[in-house]
Amino acid sequence: MPEKSSIRLRRPVSAITAYDYPSARLAEEAGFQVLLVGDSLGMVVAGNPDTTSVTLEHIKYHTSMVARAAKKALVVADFPINTYRDPEEAVESARQLIDAGAGAVKLEGGFGQVEKIRAICSEDICVMGHLGMLPQRVREEGGYKKKGKTDQEADRLVEAALALESAGVFAIVLESVVAPVAKRITKELSVPTIGIGAGAGCDGQIRVLHDVIGAYPWFVPPFATVYGNVATEIKEALAGYKQEIEEAAID
Ligand code: KIV
Repeated sequence: MPEKSSIRLRRPVSAITAYDYPSARLAEEAGFQVLLVGDSLGMVVAGNPDTTSVTLEHIKYHTSMVARAAKKALVVADFPINTYRDPEEAVESARQLIDAGAGAVKLEGGFGQVEKIRAICSEDICVMGHLGMLPQRVREEGGYKKKGKTDQEADRLVEAALALESAGVFAIVLESVVAPVAKRITKELSVPTIGIGAGAGCDGQIRVLHDVIGAYPWFVPPFATVYGNVATEIKEALAGYKQEIEEAAID
């Protein structure tokens, strides 16, 4: 794992979410550079409609599992909602995530997070930013919406990205940002951008593991890149085992 104060990601940045030991070990063996213990676990692991019920204890528990598997990959732990409301709370939560095994932490939001990022960085803890669609605000926003559609929104996103960079983030996730704006942000920043639903013009990409492997068939976001069909494999394996039980009962 890289030293905390000097995280420099290689471009293109390959990032994926991981929530437990087997998924993290498989992603590590596949050579991913970043494993994000995302609060998306509230949806794809816990089955909730959004990420807002995730707690610090949840992320700490899952971070400890992922950290056990990650030998080379950087483990980034997401701050859940309401765990970084001011700089003091952000520092205390960040310390707990690092103690749980994270190599860095990630928080959602723009200008309002600058002081918190500074405070966390001053404790020698590395921070990843997250701009664009912010899943923790999905209820206020009334759904998952594309960001940067107007010139005003695009300019504000660029300014927010620059503010996060000068506050000290080592990378920024751009979620559901229109592709030309994500490309513009990428050009303006020195730190890498990592896109999800933000086009190919970012410095790297991140996806939710369950979307990529086809493990959560009940909801697949429009920007998901689906490379597997694990749900069908699991169903077939379970059906085979169940059939064996039923046939044995007949004998
Ligand atoms: O929680 C998460 O999985 C994330 C990614 C979508 C970037 O924040």
